[in-house]
Amino acid sequence: MRTGLLVLPPLLLLAGAAPAQEDYFAFMPEGGRTMLAAALAAEPSLAEMLATSQTAEDWLTRITGEGLPGLTGLDDWQARTLADYLAYAGPIDDPAALPPDGRDMTLERCQSCHIVTVVVTQAREKEAWLGTMSKPSHVEIPLTEAERDQLADYLVVNAGIPIDAIPPELRAGGASY
Ligand code: HEC
Repeated sequence: MRTGLLVLPPLLLLAGAAPAQEDYFAFMPEGGRTMLAAALAAEPSLAEMLATSQTAEDWLTRITGEGLPGLTGLDDWQARTLADYLAYAGPIDDPAALPPDGRDMTLERCQSCHIVTVVVTQAREKEAWLGTMSKPSHVEIPLTEAERDQLADYLVVNAGIPIDAIPPELRAGGASY
């Protein structure tokens, strides 16, 4: 009986604690896929507009001008990120199967050799990002040219995150590797 009592509380504690796994990457700004999925959920009619192919500049003009159904309150960085994504992803025929965005690719392809902190703390222009990806250390990463382009565009807008904004678990070695 005593043992039972002793054993039970920790078990209950565990059960009570059972949290959803912490998202260490919540600090990374949303990519276009997530923004678009939320907008489509709010306003399914948006799907009709996605079946066309437009440049990032045209999408940006539209997003910051008349706007897109279901999408409000985007800041400049989000608008740019979404416009870039739409240009790569379009035309989107199946809104239920949105292609990966630059954030998805960064998380999938840029942290198997070093922590992602090495990447997202750098503020760089597009040519510099493409240059990093063509270094001998990176040239073998399985990404098509179009994917490298998209990844670079996401990082141009969204990287340069201050180290203080990054969870301590991901600061090992600071912004280094
Ligand atoms: C196959 C292993 C590997 C993967 C995957 C990888 N890196 Fe690296 N990365 C390295 C190595 C090795 C270094 C250190 C040597 C160097 O700088 O070339 C490095 C260093 C870096 C640096 C700091 C040095 C510099 O060039 O400024 C950046 C930034 C970087 N990587 C970005 C990226 C990005 C973006 C991705 C995803 C597209 C990525 N890495 C994925 C191996 C990798």
